[in-house]
Amino acid sequence: MRRRGGIVAGYLAPHPPHLVYAENPPQNEPRSTGGWEVLRWGYEELRRRLAVHEPDVLVVHAPHWITMVGHHVNCVPNPRGISVEPIFPHLFRYHYDFATDVDLAEAIVAEAAGAGLVTSAMRDPGVRVDYATIGALHLANPAWDIPVVSLSANNNPYFYSDAALDEMETLGAATARAIERTGRRAVLLASNSLSHLHWDREPDLPEDMGVERPFDHHQYAGDMELLQVVREGPTERLRAAVPKHIASTQAETKAGSLTWLLAAMGWPAVAGDVLAYGTVIATGNAVVEWVP
Ligand SMILES: [Fe+2]
Repeated sequence: MRRRGGIVAGYLAPHPPHLVYAENPPQNEPRSTGGWEVLRWGYEELRRRLAVHEPDVLVVHAPHWITMVGHHVNCVPNPRGISVEPIFPHLFRYHYDFATDVDLAEAIVAEAAGAGLVTSAMRDPGVRVDYATIGALHLANPAWDIPVVSLSANNNPYFYSDAALDEMETLGAATARAIERTGRRAVLLASNSLSHLHWDREPDLPEDMGVERPFDHHQYAGDMELLQVVREGPTERLRAAVPKHIASTQAETKAGSLTWLLAAMGWPAVAGDVLAYGTVIATGNAVVEWVP
């Protein structure tokens, strides 16, 4: 019997390029000796759980496909190319080749436009897929055997002092309606780190764990305060906790991916399961599962 459609799980799935570099997948050109193991063990658990959910599609919202005008949805059937992290090209030069669920991608465009959002279907196969999209997708499903829908971030998380998360509610609800309308069984990925201050010097060995630690106690404590609310639930409390966390830690959730994910799931009355937390060049990163 076919399993039910709808959104079956959502994951906070951060994308530091270092985690992909540390895994040494064949798609990534640089080689490492490892590093950031606890976070990568969390991703291993995420993969086990994701496989049990048997999704038809992974829908990912990522902060480094920045579109200043509107929310864009990648509708290219088979994106292929090399994704390069511009600040860490010596760590991340990743050859990607995956399938888009074009029907669902177009349904999200239609639902979001119908809800009044400025929306665009991206159909240019020459647009290079950003490293936050590729990083989260690789870490969640390195086999790339599940079709993808990729959404852009309609903001620049680094420019503004306040987070504009209202539209993410609308985009999340539109995403959920499109998934329902197409009958897909979907897993959502929010490709966001937490506290986001980081070092401006790199050790000789990038994966030297002897120097990896939180930026400072304030950033760490801010992450723990947020994760305490995540672990206690329900997600409704995160409506207030996420903006507070952004204000105190420069969190990357300012780009809206986490709010989009929770809104798409209808702010379910459940706790999140924190599978791992760790820092990457001082930024805080958590791998979290919500099953609505
Ligand atoms: Fe990032």
